[in-house]
Amino acid sequence: MSAAAVFGQQHIARGIGRLSEHVLQRGAGSWVWTDEGVRLLDLTMGIGVVGCGHCHPVITAAAVEQMGMIQHAQVNIGYSAAYIAFLRALLPKLALADASLDSVFLWNSGAEAVEASIKLARAATGRQNVIVMQGSYHGRTMLTAGMTRSKTVYGATFHPLVPGIYSTPFPFYAQHGVGPDVSEDFLVQQSLHQLHLLLAQQTAPRDTAAIILEPVLGEGGYVPCPSAFLQGLRRVCDAHDILLIVDEVQSGTGRTGTWWAVEPSGVRPDVLIFAKGIANGLPLSGIASRKELFDKQDPGSMGGTYAGNAVACAAGKAVIEVMDNEKVLDNVAARSKQLFAFLHALRRSPAGSLIQDIRGRGLMVGVQFVLPSTQAAISASSACPATGASASSSSLAEADKSISAASANATVARPHEVGLQARAQVAPRIVKKCLEKGMLLLATSVFDVLRFIPALTISEEEMQTACDIFESALKEVYEDVKEL
Ligand SMILES: Cc1ncc(COP(=O)(O)O)c(C=O)c1O
Repeated sequence: MSAAAVFGQQHIARGIGRLSEHVLQRGAGSWVWTDEGVRLLDLTMGIGVVGCGHCHPVITAAAVEQMGMIQHAQVNIGYSAAYIAFLRALLPKLALADASLDSVFLWNSGAEAVEASIKLARAATGRQNVIVMQGSYHGRTMLTAGMTRSKTVYGATFHPLVPGIYSTPFPFYAQHGVGPDVSEDFLVQQSLHQLHLLLAQQTAPRDTAAIILEPVLGEGGYVPCPSAFLQGLRRVCDAHDILLIVDEVQSGTGRTGTWWAVEPSGVRPDVLIFAKGIANGLPLSGIASRKELFDKQDPGSMGGTYAGNAVACAAGKAVIEVMDNEKVLDNVAARSKQLFAFLHALRRSPAGSLIQDIRGRGLMVGVQFVLPSTQAAISASSACPATGASASSSSLAEADKSISAASANATVARPHEVGLQARAQVAPRIVKKCLEKGMLLLATSVFDVLRFIPALTISEEEMQTACDIFESALKEVYEDVKEL
């Protein structure tokens, strides 16, 4: 460990979790260098922030130029030219999610933007309660920690958290305690059923301001939300005048191959939240909605000293230009295909038997693992009724019937058999091996899951290097765990 790391260990708050004890000193594209000269291939990109690669020259130049113009054009004092220029570039991108998203409020971090979306929803509807998804992650401030349901660590020892937050299951097989081959339709119907129950039993529609979800569940396990679920949520929201908020903090800015992950569903969000990749590492976040909703807020009720900082806005505008000029979304499509092809081929090898599920969109890709002994227990049990003939059930009644049948069957795979943290043996081992082999890779969720979040600009050769390192780590871990 370098002297700087020792100093950090002594003087930096222990509440910060850390993947490694490296001291990151320099970055370029998909690579970072430590203060000891170690070069690492970065498959974390600051947890999905530096989408255009570390220190992209165009973005750096834009920020530097802005530093020489004006650094802090405070939003309560007047309009900021950099803010306006950024919005002019951003609005056409927001229109890709929905043309109604014509107004914006900028802030610094993702959590602050989530808070802003809840303030907007409460002011616009006059209602208090908010529905979040089980497995969701929305931040670590008091409100957003209370909205986060991915791991207890974000709330433990900080209670009481904010009241008025209710959760409903996300259509993710492990969240429902069934196997990965369960049908999407079954999960969607079950999740919508639970939402209807929540609205009938716990938070009345007239008290419910908003439903918020990540279109790709991030910290909950890298799970793309089925379009049918988003469409179902839209119908529920329309029926009860509840606002639908999509948290695109991690999934936005091209990460999933479209500008916003919600786009392919065709669902109109009332509010869209962005952060992370939007300024490639400078602190910039925001919410977009329709002017009619923003107009319900009193002047002075929103804002913050650094909100929409000029340098961050200049970087944000440059990000949009780089995404367009360098056809970054085309690269996301090509590299995503490369990564998925590799993972599916690897799954057919002996070490690949540890892979239970490969999922994701674009360059937001998750791999869930299962131990051979757990897999054997699942396979030995009779087929889950929910995955068999009833898997294609389209009605709620049929789905309900299959669930009762499932719970009546003692041999069905139990929730712990689909891989809870207590048994997460594979992902943490692979993370460690990859680090030893010179690659930064992150685990996620309470399940046994790894997430790939490379730069959107990663080259074919760099992706191949990442795949080679991953394969060699997986093979070594397989030898360590195959008897477990
Ligand atoms: C979906 C989502 N929402 C909100 C946040 C919070 O963002 P920040 O860490 O910038 O506060 C994150 C961060 O990982 C996130 O992934």
